[in-house]
Amino acid sequence: MTPDDLPVLDLADVEAAAALERYRRVRRRTETLAAPLSPEDQAAQSMPDASPTKWHRAHTTWFFETFLLAPFLPGYAAYDPDYGYLFNSYYESVGPRQPRPQRGLLTRPSAQAIGAYRAHVDAAMERLLDGPLTEEIRERLDLGLAHEEQHQELILMDILHLFAQSPLSPAYHAGGQARRADPGPQRFHRYAGGLVEIGADKTGFAFDNERPRHRVYVAPFRLSDRLVTNGEWIAFIEAGGYQRVDLWLSEGWSTAQAEGWIAPAYWRQEDDGTWTTMTLRGRGPVDVAAPVLHVSYYEAAAFAAWTGRRLPTEAEWEAAATASGDMGLRQLYGSAWQWTSSAYTAYPGFKPGAGALGEYNGKFMVNQMVLRGGCEATPPAHSRATYRNFFHPDRRWMFAGVRLADDDR
Ligand code: AVJ
Ligand code: FE
Repeated sequence: MTPDDLPVLDLADVEAAAALERYRRVRRRTETLAAPLSPEDQAAQSMPDASPTKWHRAHTTWFFETFLLAPFLPGYAAYDPDYGYLFNSYYESVGPRQPRPQRGLLTRPSAQAIGAYRAHVDAAMERLLDGPLTEEIRERLDLGLAHEEQHQELILMDILHLFAQSPLSPAYHAGGQARRADPGPQRFHRYAGGLVEIGADKTGFAFDNERPRHRVYVAPFRLSDRLVTNGEWIAFIEAGGYQRVDLWLSEGWSTAQAEGWIAPAYWRQEDDGTWTTMTLRGRGPVDVAAPVLHVSYYEAAAFAAWTGRRLPTEAEWEAAATASGDMGLRQLYGSAWQWTSSAYTAYPGFKPGAGALGEYNGKFMVNQMVLRGGCEATPPAHSRATYRNFFHPDRRWMFAGVRLADDDR
């Protein structure tokens, strides 16, 4: 056989096929997540921060249409000229939009019509991804897919919040709750700190807010090998943690008073004194062995103060998560987002990109706190050590929990 007889394996073709396969897999996963939800479930909005499932399905589609098809697929025309207004989330430079708190008023287009929109955009994306992919197309595809994965998690956060408002306590997943094994005592691992590097390097996908990689000085610290459990949270409640003003940040205390917080979001004390909570499997007993979820930054900080310890900084969290050697940190990614004491601000050297996509993360860098790790609702392979999630310190509908840290001196 001469080399001429061998099929020509064009690297660009292989890469395009892989891109298309990734695109299909992510898009399919969104539809799989939405599948158990009726059109009525998919239309409701339970609070201004949450969005209807069908809105998430349409917005992620609009993202591909706006940032890939319109600029890069020759002759592509918008599927429906009204959809830009309906499904633009927050991109000021793209144009005006339906106010976020009123997304639940969009009874039209129907959930089914949004399915047709998705299919239309998918067919156009197949055409785009069939050709040679420029660097810019590849980068925007990566962003569009990571964006859709973020919305996959938002779909689950938002549907849990919606279902928690229902007296029927509907279950998203059938089958009830499996109890966790007792995680045992937490151990505090020591880290020398020093001058550490954090942030994403130039290779591979990362959101812009994870860059540039840079050096940070970290004093010697200790970090718990596991998350705070519901059982430990019950001890905090029973010790009067929600009544002890000395444990709370001022804004945390006023928020807790105004909101009447006496326990994590979704918790309810039943007539027999036991606690139940709402999960994607419906309402059931609080599992004392499972990590606490649905606590605000304010509650996390009060809990840490009660233990005499503190929350980790994001640099500590990342340095520990990437430390060489198996330090045996448990529950890093799949259990709960972990509040850090770090404000969500730009890394030194960060510049938001030009144009609408520069609005993706940078403009939110004020008044929010960074969370690290990932939770059960985070799509597989979406998490990484440099990932910076962020929410306002009073929000509780995320799957957010607590890992304790301490100074080591
Ligand atoms: C990183 C989860 C705070 O919900 O606004 C979705 C994710 N960014 N579309 C958010 C996101 C653009 C973002 N969070
Ligand atoms: Fe979005």
